[in-house]
Amino acid sequence: MKTRYRSFLAGVAVGGLAAAAARRYRTGKIRTAAWQNQFRPALDVLACPACRGTLEMNLMPGEPEYRCPRCQKVYPVVGGIPHFIQTEELTGWNKRFAGMYDIFSWGYRAFSKLAFAWIGMSEERARREITDRLAPNGGRVLEVSIGPGVNLPYLVNRRDVGEIYGLDISPGQLRRCRDYIAWHGWPVQLQLGNAEQLPYLDNTFAGVFHVGGINFFNDKRKAVEEMIRVARPGARILICDETERGAQVYERIFPMFKQATGGAAREPVRAPVELIPPEMANLQVFEVWKGWFYCIEFTKP
Ligand SMILES: C[S@@+](CC[C@H](N)C(=O)[O-])C[C@H]1O[C@@H](n2cnc3c(N)ncnc32)[C@H](O)[C@@H]1O
Ligand SMILES: [Zn+2]
Repeated sequence: MKTRYRSFLAGVAVGGLAAAAARRYRTGKIRTAAWQNQFRPALDVLACPACRGTLEMNLMPGEPEYRCPRCQKVYPVVGGIPHFIQTEELTGWNKRFAGMYDIFSWGYRAFSKLAFAWIGMSEERARREITDRLAPNGGRVLEVSIGPGVNLPYLVNRRDVGEIYGLDISPGQLRRCRDYIAWHGWPVQLQLGNAEQLPYLDNTFAGVFHVGGINFFNDKRKAVEEMIRVARPGARILICDETERGAQVYERIFPMFKQATGGAAREPVRAPVELIPPEMANLQVFEVWKGWFYCIEFTKP
């Protein structure tokens, strides 16, 4: 009797697991199909990150690839995401953070909600404190370091926001972002790339923003120059990251973050305002999120 009862329970457990796996597989397929419908070649927006030339698309069996006729570099599309870097070739901070965010991507969205609850703000209010400052007048918007897409809900339904592009260095974060976008059916285009060598044509975006990564980029100056290069004249650019107060708390909560940054051994964090060229207009530096983050805002003349 006991043995029969046990086999019955085991049968129920195996059946349940098989049903869950089948559901997961089916949902994955639906999401991938949804994503593929949203993917746009965007040859009017993308550029070779190495030589900045316009790209062509090779239609391959399976997924397409981009090719640069000028320098002959080839960029594959993997799971609906064009890859403009090879993560094995990253170095320094960029390598450490790409790896760290790949691991952390599974919990990033939940962490973001908890972090805002802890500082006593709703995520919506906090995110809008930054995104509402963009004024793209119907033009394209780029988020550099989009992560799993936590700022998207506050952009996608805005009438003054045109097509949205998101770039990140972590394939794990971008896969989460892709599934999130496909789930909602949002027409957002994603690229795997490095903020220091953006894969976009000059003067393309009517709004460019970055939240949460620049403090520990290998080359902040290059990243700022790139955000300016791809912005259209008149575009507002926002660059935001933790203040020293924010960085210390991250380091206390996440040992991985401390390992990556060096903790007490590193230089104190501050807004890199000296990197903004003097010809930029309307420069402002201020704190958001109750002082946990700084923002640098300016307009490309
Ligand atoms: C703290 S998360 C911010 C995510 C999102 N923007 C937000 O507001 O929560 C920092 C992101 O920066 C990305 N990142 C780090 N170094 C980068 C680089 N050199 N180029 C592009 N993205 C980078 C990480 O992969 C990660 O997704
Ligand atoms: Zn090229």
